Amino acid sequence: MQKISVTYKLPEEGLRLLRRYDLKVNAEDRFLSKPELIDFAYNADALITLLSDQIDREVIERLENLKVIANYAVGFNNIDIVAAKERGVVVTNTPGVLTEATADLTMALILATTRRLVEGDRFVRRGLFDGWKPELLLGVSLKDRVLGIIGLGRIGKAVVQRAKAFGMKVVYHNRMPASKKEEKALSVEYKSLEDLLKLSDVVSVHVPLTKETRHLIGSSRLKLMKPTGVLINTSRGAVIDEQALIQFLRERRIFAAGLDVFENEPEIPYALRELDNVVLLPHLGSATRETRMEMALMVARNVIAVLNGKRPPNRVV
Ligand code: GLV
Ligand code: GLV
Repeated sequence: MQKISVTYKLPEEGLRLLRRYDLKVNAEDRFLSKPELIDFAYNADALITLLSDQIDREVIERLENLKVIANYAVGFNNIDIVAAKERGVVVTNTPGVLTEATADLTMALILATTRRLVEGDRFVRRGLFDGWKPELLLGVSLKDRVLGIIGLGRIGKAVVQRAKAFGMKVVYHNRMPASKKEEKALSVEYKSLEDLLKLSDVVSVHVPLTKETRHLIGSSRLKLMKPTGVLINTSRGAVIDEQALIQFLRERRIFAAGLDVFENEPEIPYALRELDNVVLLPHLGSATRETRMEMALMVARNVIAVLNGKRPPNRVV
């Protein structure tokens, strides 16, 4: 019987589909180290991974029976896809089903930062609220403000729709500009990265993490942002130079940041946690019950397809 190893317990809806195979699920409520993972998945035909599992060349070469790595995430920067390709191991992800949830969370961060929700909550809990005041915790209005979307993929586009409902103007930057027709349909305007940063009141990042996008936003680009500007990241932490961002926030050279992802997750620098002009979330982009269930069904379908010699619906390589 074909063996499937799952590195962390997933929603049951997905696991249920896999029980007719020899299914092994890490029952502990913790991540596996690399040697543990190799040991755990030894001889597996299929491996289901989280974005926190580093599936590098060594892991891929040690798991000699492996036919498929199904990542329980849309991003797959945790997997050495070159090594997988060389060994003929199929890699799949979970695109589409988490678009709306991630766009919602992006909007939540935009509202939380511009309207100082978390600061306000802390203020109330500390017992500091002693009445409505004309200039208490003032934020920024969204109407007629410019949102700059870096990376106009599925999630970026879903954020555009939401921002439009709030009356924002949207500019975008993408490796490949969208067609004129699509720009018109979304009512967005293409800008160079530099112009986007200069123009935008809110900048939101929606690119995958690759060699090209690592530290895409560092000091020299943060410098271009308005002092009233807000930076939102729900993509991957390393797209932004975290140390540079900390410095800009500390010196109030931008108004605020909203971060769902960090450069060395789950480590979050103390210097960042100390600042009150940043909202920090524990990577919750796709964290709705419905979405995580859909993602579990998707990884299961991808694995089943490969184990049956078929092309999986969400193949990356
Ligand atoms: C989450 O960050 C994902 O890539 O699915
Ligand atoms: C605020 O609460 C107002 O009524 O203006």
